[in-house]
Amino acid sequence: PLVTGIELLEDARKRDYAVGAFNVNNMEIIQAIIAAAEEERSPVILQASQGAIKYAGIRYIRALVTAAAEEARVPICLHLDHGPSFEQVMECLRYGFTSVMFDGSHLPYEENVRLTAKAVEAAHAVGVSVEGELGKIGGVEEEIRVEDWDVVLTDPEVVPDFVQRTGVDYLAVAIGTKHGFYKGEPKLDFDRLARIHQLMPDLPLVLHGGSGIPEEHIRRAIPLGVRKINIDTELRAAFVGRAREIMAEKPQEIDPRKILGPAREAMKEKVKEKMRLFGSSGKA
Ligand code: G3H
Ligand code: 13P
Ligand code: ZN
Ligand code: NA
Repeated sequence: PLVTGIELLEDARKRDYAVGAFNVNNMEIIQAIIAAAEEERSPVILQASQGAIKYAGIRYIRALVTAAAEEARVPICLHLDHGPSFEQVMECLRYGFTSVMFDGSHLPYEENVRLTAKAVEAAHAVGVSVEGELGKIGGVEEEIRVEDWDVVLTDPEVVPDFVQRTGVDYLAVAIGTKHGFYKGEPKLDFDRLARIHQLMPDLPLVLHGGSGIPEEHIRRAIPLGVRKINIDTELRAAFVGRAREIMAEKPQEIDPRKILGPAREAMKEKVKEKMRLFGSSGKA
């Protein structure tokens, strides 16, 4: 069934694990993630980025996820990743998304508060939960590009004011993670994360840029309140890596299913690995 984000993250908080939020762009990716969730008995979040919306369209993403959710036994949440505008949040609400992110992290603080609160008011009116963002997460995204020099980590002391004034249900924090792979070891500011968690112990925190973070860092972050971990790049790499192998092995192959099928299988295995690491396996 399709459920709200907060329903999943509340259970994760109570039982001290994190839910994987995996980016989806087409049928094979959706099937890979749902199959992994079913096999692991894990709750799961499927999320659509700006790139996904451009590539597949909100309508197709919603239809594919609905088809998957109809037969799935595990709870599934459909989430808007890095929503840039009130208009797009409204569009996703209309199409039945069960969670939305309003990303006002590039705005001056008061503007971020004002626009996030507006998105929360609309989403809550139809029972949908909302993710906000405070601080800037590094790396490259299709619509939001943050250069290294511009990376600003979340100020823990501002978090209670932001959450209280906007009403967000969960919060993306910038503690040194980046979108995409890392050049060398990522440096995560655990003192900062611990302080945020100390100030807001019941607030589910969201870690963006989950690909490339060493396992021991993930295990350390979860008990500090991280309840949603976004993963995109590592899934892409698993999918395309396998597709490339098949094409190299069988250069005469022209049936897309013979290439996409094994790629989907490789992505499923990567998702299962993340679910076990996040502790969500067996929780649904
Ligand atoms: O939002 C983070 C995604 O990794 C960016 O993906 O290229 O589909 O917009 P995109
Ligand atoms: P990665 O591509 O580093 O996994 O980050 C994904 C993400 O944060 C999507 O919002
Ligand atoms: Zn992100
Ligand atoms: Na990353």
